[in-house]
Amino acid sequence: MNKKLYIETYGCQMNFSDSEIVASVMTSHDFDITTGPHDADVIFLNTCSIRDHAEQRVLNRLRALQHLRKKKPGLLIGVLGCMAERLKTGLLEDKDLGMRIDMVVGPDAYRQLPQLLMDAESGQKAIDVMLSADETYADISPVRYGADGVSAFISIMRGCENFCAYCVVPYTRGKERSRDPESILSEATQLANKGYREVTLLGQNVNSYRWPGRDHGQPLVFSELIGMVAAIDPLLRVRFATSHPKDMSDQLLHAMARYPNICKAIHLPMQSGSSAVLRRMNRKYSRQDYLNRVGAIRAILPECGISTDLIAGYCGETEAEHRDTLSVMQEVGFDFAFMFKYSERPDTLAAKKYPDDVPDQVKTRRLTEIIHTQQALSLKSNRRDVGSLQEVLVEGYSKRSKNHLMGRTGHNKVVVFPACEVQPGDYAVVEITGCSSATLKGVLRQKGLLQQAGRQDG
Ligand code: SAH
Ligand code: SF4
Ligand code: F3S
Repeated sequence: MNKKLYIETYGCQMNFSDSEIVASVMTSHDFDITTGPHDADVIFLNTCSIRDHAEQRVLNRLRALQHLRKKKPGLLIGVLGCMAERLKTGLLEDKDLGMRIDMVVGPDAYRQLPQLLMDAESGQKAIDVMLSADETYADISPVRYGADGVSAFISIMRGCENFCAYCVVPYTRGKERSRDPESILSEATQLANKGYREVTLLGQNVNSYRWPGRDHGQPLVFSELIGMVAAIDPLLRVRFATSHPKDMSDQLLHAMARYPNICKAIHLPMQSGSSAVLRRMNRKYSRQDYLNRVGAIRAILPECGISTDLIAGYCGETEAEHRDTLSVMQEVGFDFAFMFKYSERPDTLAAKKYPDDVPDQVKTRRLTEIIHTQQALSLKSNRRDVGSLQEVLVEGYSKRSKNHLMGRTGHNKVVVFPACEVQPGDYAVVEITGCSSATLKGVLRQKGLLQQAGRQDG
């Protein structure tokens, strides 16, 4: 009988995508994936180091899982992903941690998992945190164990070399590398053939995707790749994340304009509205550069949704610099934002160069102001949609009620509407009848795509 593996994933979409690679490696080595820790022979936590809070959550969870060893002697617990890469052998020190961890495996070492597991089974501590310059797992077909059958992630690149001063990712994920386009296209084609209706192309900075041309030809760039994915099937929605503002090209915007099935939503992390703060962050663009990119989006894709990431209380941030963030938020009118308190990460450029000198209560207050500003902007953005017809890809049932379906608009807004003849995986034209700052509410007007109903979301 196969052994059982339970995987729990923290952090970004890249990590969720990696867990599907891990599942693929393990299920081809006599493991079945199980949905909870209690009947598992092996437990993997695929972890995130982006903020201290993310690491503390994982450590607490690891502590809470230890009691399962009593019921299951031989249970193995492994730490995968970014914390494994950052903390390395530190995670194997039972005394320092106050608990036992059996395996530590970094994000480029997942092919070694079966061997590492054998080491761990024989009682040795198993660790592999080698980073690679070229691993992309291109030939490994992800096992979509948690999937809804509608929407899937496709990793198109790994690593990051931007070294934003606050960020741990370049250290935990290593060198930036792009994946062979043929393997990306065949993965997308297979998903479409299986009935998937949406793929999200993933990388820390997809706009620097680059695949060398054959015979000294031009390299293939992201704006071309996304067009090739979009051409596979007009019923397959294509999304992507994330775009670094310094690399977001007009060519990409034109490609988005050309294909109706490329969703008109761009996640463009701004981090701060102050050029001085952006310089200390090593983001390589100014407030005005960012606004110019937003101008290009509005000019080429007038209806495009724009979302962002913001950090409150970065090193040396003054009250005036904080207000620059609030004002740029108003100026752009973001549809959605992920908002964070700055958390110093050991060994990053910021940790070496700038004191983490904004007091915690000031960070909290600034974050609260940013959140309130965004809530008002999100509500405004959602109110604009009330009365419009939206093309919704139905993903499943609403978390709150089985009598409601849940899906997303092309702009990546969540829509909830009464259950009716449409199913998860169907397109539905929904008339928006109300909203909160987080959700649109509506009623089904027609099955299928909006073009067939006549676009009215002008
Ligand atoms: N590659 C993406 C971001 C990945 S990390 C990009 O550059 O756009 C996701 C977000 O976490 C970042 O955009 C940033 O807002 C936030 N973040 C990263 N490091 C952080 C830190 N040390 N403290 C607080 N937030 C951080
Ligand atoms: Fe981190 Fe910057 Fe790379 Fe994004 S682009 S992962 S914020 S270093
Ligand atoms: Fe976290 Fe690693 Fe992603 S640090 S955000 S899981 S790349």
